Amino acid sequence: MNPTQNTVASASIKRKAITLAWTGASGAPYGLRLLHCLLAADYHVYLLISSAARVVLATEQGLKLSSRPALAQEALMDYLQCTAGELTVCSKEDWFSPVASGSAAPKQMIVCPCSAGSVASIVHGMSDNLIERAADVVLKERGQLLLVVRETPFSTLHLENMLKLSQMGVTIMPAAPGFYHQPQSIDDLIDFIVARVLDHMGIEQTLVPRWGYDNR
Ligand SMILES: Cc1cc2nc3c(=O)[nH]c(=O)nc-3n(C[C@H](O)[C@H](O)[C@H](O)COP(=O)(O)O)c2cc1C
Repeated sequence: MNPTQNTVASASIKRKAITLAWTGASGAPYGLRLLHCLLAADYHVYLLISSAARVVLATEQGLKLSSRPALAQEALMDYLQCTAGELTVCSKEDWFSPVASGSAAPKQMIVCPCSAGSVASIVHGMSDNLIERAADVVLKERGQLLLVVRETPFSTLHLENMLKLSQMGVTIMPAAPGFYHQPQSIDDLIDFIVARVLDHMGIEQTLVPRWGYDNR
């Protein structure tokens, strides 16, 4: 065997990658803004969109995405001015996607917005669609999983599910923006949440002033 064979990762494997899932909770603007920020931070984003998320996106943002991943990807590339090298939209049963296997999946995954239904499926390891499978892979590989959950009020079941996930090391971040940065617009509220998500994933951001530094 040639000792130098297959030792150099291809450029595409070396590029920073992250999985982002949009599910059917209210908060589509958080998901879109987060996608924009991840692309701006030079991540290759594997984007998984549930059927309900497409309904919410159309309702809240007026953005109608096709259920066909290739068409949805084209529309999003146009909307966000990015290229196919930066964004891959996966279908919900694309079991050959890198995110479906621990041997290839990015070590970081964000579900934003995350519905109570998806919380329940993830905590039980259902793996019945690519979002659930990707989350299960990140859990088994002991990667970083962050859920921006939106529901109000929370039922006991929601709280139990989130507690269980938190005990497994998952970051549960309710979509509950603060007001101490004196938001002037809805965009400021969106950025509050997106900034906290990026902070937790270790991704540099300057979206909102940092407590104790820029607000004295
Ligand atoms: C406009 C709209 C808003 C919704 N908002 C929420 C929400 O904030 N939280 C939630 O848990 N479910 C919400 N739902 C219900 C979920 O979309 C539904 O439970 C769905 O089955 C979740 O599936 P998914 O997790 O696979 O996307 C909403 C549905 C619609 C159409």
